[in-house]
Amino acid sequence: LANGLALTPPMGWNDWNAFGCAVSAQLVEQTADKLVASGLAADGYGYVNIDDCWMAPNRDSAGNLVPDPAKFPDGIKAVADYVHAKGLKLGIYETAGTNTCAGFPGSLGHETQDANTFAAWGVDYLKYDNCNNQGVPSQQRYNAMGKALAATGRPIVYSLCSWGTEDVASWGGSVGNLWRTTGDISADFGSMLSNFHTNVALAADAGPGAWNDPDMLEVGNGMSAVEDQTEFTLWAEMAAPLISGTDLRTASANTLRILGNRQVIAVDQDALGRQGTEISSSGGLDVLAKPLSDGSVSVVLFNENATAATISTTAAAAGLPTGSKGGYALQDLWTGRTTVSGGTISAAVPGHAAVMYKVTPAKRTLPPSTSLLTTLP
Ligand code: DGJ
Repeated sequence: LANGLALTPPMGWNDWNAFGCAVSAQLVEQTADKLVASGLAADGYGYVNIDDCWMAPNRDSAGNLVPDPAKFPDGIKAVADYVHAKGLKLGIYETAGTNTCAGFPGSLGHETQDANTFAAWGVDYLKYDNCNNQGVPSQQRYNAMGKALAATGRPIVYSLCSWGTEDVASWGGSVGNLWRTTGDISADFGSMLSNFHTNVALAADAGPGAWNDPDMLEVGNGMSAVEDQTEFTLWAEMAAPLISGTDLRTASANTLRILGNRQVIAVDQDALGRQGTEISSSGGLDVLAKPLSDGSVSVVLFNENATAATISTTAAAAGLPTGSKGGYALQDLWTGRTTVSGGTISAAVPGHAAVMYKVTPAKRTLPPSTSLLTTLP
């Protein structure tokens, strides 16, 4: 959506996957504290997003949404103020239906009033779900809220949570800043893999301000350490939103290490805004390539299988200029090691793991116009 927002994929946190309906002001504020203290805020994780169940069961007599007084005793604006004072932004949740998925009042038919409420509270991001939609076409429902948000004049990132239905990737970029391409992810390799497969095929629909969303990061929620790192690698390669869905207050050192890998984050956040594509896939061995703004290419070698395998491609297949005299520098973004290759890009990849190389044509030792012959007398 050309609203000037989300020119790179949104980064932040959302409570749903770790907490379900157990959201509260305290949880959101403690998470904001942790984002800052852990350094994740400085790494780019800027949105603290409230999901379903923040509301009281009914609107007030004027038809306004009401925060649950037990969970948000001082209301949402107080939480927004707290989060803003930390240099972060606040996200909220509603549904393009009569009720949210958990049964709270939905925004269908109340779009203008609710958008105005969110803007007045200082909300910076809306995740807009798809339950109880009464069969109204989703473009119509999502457009209505998009217009209402724009009319508030407040910059609000607009996240369409439409689960990949009604071909949302083909029109999502004209309505919102990101759109879910799949059903809900869970913290297991099969679920993550399924969302990856659906999402990776939609690369052509993504670009600055408009992102495919394969759902939240389950890093720290129960997959193996290898699988956690794989999800983060694949999501970054796909220029996916990096929204942590774990309890950051108690996150392990390994979870924080994965979420905080700045080299991998830089691939996700690259200004070119190209989603990586599968350049080969066979027998569960996948090669992905994502062109980056500095002329390098991020290449991922992903082993879907449980047993180790060697995965190989070439610089040419990854779209790098051919004939680089000095070869190519392959920087492994997880180990930090750089090797030089004549053009082969290959690694022994453990089961369920993904190797991520930033591949750069090696620097020439002489400027292009200079050759030994022309400098000889
Ligand atoms: C369905 C969405 O896909 C989830 O991410 C979450 O927002 C739940 N609804 C909340 O009810």
